[in-house]
Amino acid sequence: MEVFGSNKKRKGFYVRMKLLRSRHGKAENYFFFRYFKWILWVSLSFYFFATSIGNHRPATQLGSISGVLSHAAVRLQPRSLMQLRVYVYELPSKYNSDWISNERCGNHLFASEVAIHKALLHSQVRTFDPSVANFFFVPVYVSCNFSTVNGFPDMVHARGLLSSAVELISSELPFWYRNNGSDHIFVASHDYGACFHAMEGRAVAEGIPEFMKNSIVLQTFGVKYHHPCQDAENIVIPPYVSPEKVQSIMSTLPITSRRDIFVFFRGKMEVHPKNVSGQFYSKRVRTQILRKYGNDRRFYLRRRRFSGYMSEIVRSVFCLCPLGWAPWSPRLVESVALGCVPVIIADGIRLPFGDAVPWSEISLTVAEKDVGKLGRILDHVAATNLSAIQRNLRDPKVQRALLFNDDVEEGDATWQILIALSEKLAR
Ligand SMILES: *[C@@H]1O[C@H](CO)[C@@H](O)[C@H](O)[C@H]1NC(C)=O
Ligand SMILES: *[C@@H]1O[C@H](CO)[C@@H](O)[C@H](O)[C@H]1NC(C)=O
Ligand SMILES: *[C@@H]1O[C@H](CO)[C@@H](O)[C@H](O)[C@H]1NC(C)=O
Ligand SMILES: *[C@@H]1O[C@H](CO)[C@@H](O)[C@H](O)[C@H]1NC(C)=O
Repeated sequence: MEVFGSNKKRKGFYVRMKLLRSRHGKAENYFFFRYFKWILWVSLSFYFFATSIGNHRPATQLGSISGVLSHAAVRLQPRSLMQLRVYVYELPSKYNSDWISNERCGNHLFASEVAIHKALLHSQVRTFDPSVANFFFVPVYVSCNFSTVNGFPDMVHARGLLSSAVELISSELPFWYRNNGSDHIFVASHDYGACFHAMEGRAVAEGIPEFMKNSIVLQTFGVKYHHPCQDAENIVIPPYVSPEKVQSIMSTLPITSRRDIFVFFRGKMEVHPKNVSGQFYSKRVRTQILRKYGNDRRFYLRRRRFSGYMSEIVRSVFCLCPLGWAPWSPRLVESVALGCVPVIIADGIRLPFGDAVPWSEISLTVAEKDVGKLGRILDHVAATNLSAIQRNLRDPKVQRALLFNDDVEEGDATWQILIALSEKLAR
């Protein structure tokens, strides 16, 4: 990434606007740029207005406009995205780009913190002038300090890293205090989101850091009931799955190829789950699945890690997505992307982008208490409405909405976040 490369060369903290800096600080250029942008917006608005009148398409329908701008550019939607201006703070590299030296940082299930940052840097909603911004993105990567013991991200340093970033931006620029942080955006992509702990009990006890409570948190964690770890303004986002990986699997096995595995699950399933400070992994749901269906030939259940698991998903009809410590799992995205019907077993889960992804039409939900009836439930679906669900699932729009691309693409996951932000503006 060009941007990350240039960040590395910089020393110390640097927040001046790019345009002011690069053109010898001359104000004229800056105003010229704003003027030019204004003209561009007006012409684009007129174009979109004319197109939507001409085609009699409702202006709110996403994806009704295409073809004007270059393919890499975001095709902005009139009225909502066009008003959006996001300022991306330029923080010293220790907050973000330094972590990328570990390649896993940009690819693992929590990597949306990296992906959203990259996408915003290149996006048309980015403004270099914080005084016109309606949102401020704080790019801190907290999930890449991998433990040398078990390889999992160590979240212990997250609060400190974030609070020092906030101290920096609030001392260097006036915008943090302007609205008491409420227009500032953070990504919290790990288990219990802004509570920064993988275990619910500890997460709740530690709570959301005081300085983030007014802000907007983009988080994978989401439940429909009240929960202290979603007490800040938030947008539920999908876990990160590399679009390149999905693409490479799909190029060998098309989504419509025959699926010889009826029910698939690969992942941690404890035979005798331990009581970890009052909690059992997956509330013992995975253990029940293993006990009841471990010898059932319809079920392909595997406990070991296997790097080729995506080629198993693309061979499967149903993919189980049971809760782990937290309700969400990367399997939700992997199954949808690879055309396997997700079977969601996580009571009360709040799923990402409900407006763009018709979850009830593309997945099945089984209550945790009914996990012992999985076999019967899935047989029934296979005999009745499976092909309808698969048809809904194969809508490319659904898949696109759950994947993050390096450059924002119309309808992709970052795009859905921008839509959600612009809706906050309208309120
Ligand atoms: C990474 O986490 C460890 C704790 O496992 C901590 O000691 C270390 O300071 C962290 N590294 C950074 C750069 O924050
Ligand atoms: C700003 O937010 C803090 C909570 O983080 C709150 O205690 C304080 O009253 C707020 N101040 C204003 C001026 O709204
Ligand atoms: C799990 O451990 C906690 C103490 O940490 C205890 O209070 C609870 O009764 C235990 N639960 C079960 C089902 O054994
Ligand atoms: C398919 O049938 C199951 C019950 O058998 C039902 O819960 C589900 O909503 C149906 N899905 C669709 C998309 O019709």
